[in-house]
Amino acid sequence: MNQAPAPSVRPEKQPELRLVYSRLNVGGVRVPERASSYPEFRYMGSKHRLLPWIHGVLANLDFESAADPFLGSGCVAYLLKCMGKRVIGSDFLNFPTVIAKATVENNSYELDGPAMKRLLQPLRKRSQFIERTFSGIFYTRTDLQFLDRICSNVEKLDNEFRQALARAALIRSCLKKQPRGVFTVSGNRYDDGRRDLKLSIEEHFLEQVTKFNAAVFGNGRRHTIRRGDVFELPAREADLVYLDPPYVPRADDNCYMKRYHFLEGVSCYWRGVELMPETKVKKIAKPFTPFSYRRTALDAFQRLFAMYQKSTIVLSYSSNGYPDRAELQSLLGQYKKNIQTYERPHRYHFGTHAGVERAEVQEYLLVGI
Ligand SMILES: C[S@@+](CC[C@H](N)C(=O)[O-])C[C@H]1O[C@@H](n2cnc3c(N)ncnc32)[C@H](O)[C@@H]1O
Repeated sequence: MNQAPAPSVRPEKQPELRLVYSRLNVGGVRVPERASSYPEFRYMGSKHRLLPWIHGVLANLDFESAADPFLGSGCVAYLLKCMGKRVIGSDFLNFPTVIAKATVENNSYELDGPAMKRLLQPLRKRSQFIERTFSGIFYTRTDLQFLDRICSNVEKLDNEFRQALARAALIRSCLKKQPRGVFTVSGNRYDDGRRDLKLSIEEHFLEQVTKFNAAVFGNGRRHTIRRGDVFELPAREADLVYLDPPYVPRADDNCYMKRYHFLEGVSCYWRGVELMPETKVKKIAKPFTPFSYRRTALDAFQRLFAMYQKSTIVLSYSSNGYPDRAELQSLLGQYKKNIQTYERPHRYHFGTHAGVERAEVQEYLLVGI
């Protein structure tokens, strides 16, 4: 049975703003089993391991439709689908939208025998873009040839959801096989002998197809996944919006394109992107996001809250970001009279240029009703 998260009430100074604060681990509400078996991505800021906690908070809110305009790995959008909601999702990068198209918007299509036959068939006219561009940078020549084959054949599949499934399986294969899960440096210096690094991309791909096929289900509703900057897409009406933008980091940077440019390329076979041939790892030019810079972040949050003021706003945030919790609460308070804050400790693991970092943070969920 669903249990209320029971936040403890701590009265604050502003008389008209009701702030409720909870350090409690929201327990008692079991996350849908399907959501826990969603394919996990080593993605910066992924909330996969926080899904039970996020679910505990969401399960006590009243809504039928939900928007997630910062999809990332897509695990929260998928959780919302598992909860029976109608989901509208977007991201300004292409590969997160491909993953969510395969798992969230797709209610029924799987990669069946005939589709796999088409995908795996040898190319009559060999396309060598990936092999030529990335030889000596990432993976083996055989892996790169396999990627060229699948990326080329995927365009011949006649169904957009099967195409998305194949690309999603390829994206997760590439991420698993890349040491530390980032594409900022080339070579195998960080090969620690893990199984994921030993398998060929083809072996990974066959495993991932099974994993993604298993993730396909319908919840009786139609979902929409689009690609676009949050400020450029029309704000679609949803009862609730889950916001998980990047935060201004204390050190290093938080550029998603810099870390995952190869996955972005795989998601579209490098069509329509600006490849930077002079860079060592053949990066793709990064798009601007105001959430990455101190001088633009506050204004971006304000615009975001204004945009979604008619919806229940659920904001994910962590203590190592800027702006801090108090600033965000006060900004959100300009649009919402009732704010509940949930908090729990969390440990992020993420690959950086220098190695793998672990950050101990407090993770927050700010709910504005
Ligand atoms: C913290 S991640 C989201 C993580 C996701 N909730 C998960 O659990 O995997 C932030 C995402 O926002 C996207 N993003 C950054 N700036 C954006 C913008 N201006 N408009 C839309 N998406 C943006 C990034 O591409 C990234 O995927």
